[in-house]
Amino acid sequence: MRRSTRIAPSILSADFAALGAAVDCLVAAEADYIHIDVMDGHFVPNLTIGPAVVQALRKRTALTFDVHLMISPLDPLLPDFLDAGADILTVHAEAGPHLHRSVQQIKQAGCRAGVALNPGTPASAVDAVLGDIDLVLAMTVDPGFGGQGFLRAQCTKIAELRARIDESGRTIDLEVDGGINEGTAAEARAAGADVLVAGSFVFADGPGGCAGRIRQLREAAP
Ligand code: DX5
Ligand code: ZN
Repeated sequence: MRRSTRIAPSILSADFAALGAAVDCLVAAEADYIHIDVMDGHFVPNLTIGPAVVQALRKRTALTFDVHLMISPLDPLLPDFLDAGADILTVHAEAGPHLHRSVQQIKQAGCRAGVALNPGTPASAVDAVLGDIDLVLAMTVDPGFGGQGFLRAQCTKIAELRARIDESGRTIDLEVDGGINEGTAAEARAAGADVLVAGSFVFADGPGGCAGRIRQLREAAP
């Protein structure tokens, strides 16, 4: 049975001087997950949040922390993010040569494991780990920055991933990240997404506007 849409606002678009308050607002706004974008200035051309910040935010809420690692190499830093309190830890298939090892490390720590695919990576890249993971993240922008335009051609790949997940018979979230607004949310949902990440759209009116913006996404993509 199709699961209802979950909304995962990205705090990448929040005021970095007030991240705690942003998390409080998202909790009050009944976000499903809090999406935390970790960038290393190497795998992607931007530097953002480290494990110390995740650990500090962890004290504000028990809501699911959906941590998206855009770092390479990734294995040396996995323990730090696991200790910091990630609930879902997602690694990029393109970030290193040992995807199973990274996934196993996450699962052994009792955390949910995700695998993300850049727009240029085919859906088949998840086949070898589909029996082990809890989430597939389909990027609809090249990762690195918020506020980029939704790559519509990725909807074909989202549908391919949906088919693979359904065929596996396992409970795996299909998350879509990049350029999500009230229009593209419906397109991603129609293609098969069940978790929608949104940064610039959710924070466009400041933290006070988050609840209304999350509601708009839920109405656009039920
Ligand atoms: C992109 C990040 C996304 C991004 C989404 O590299 O992984 O989570 O912040 O931002 P918007 O919703 O602005 O595209
Ligand atoms: Zn992300």
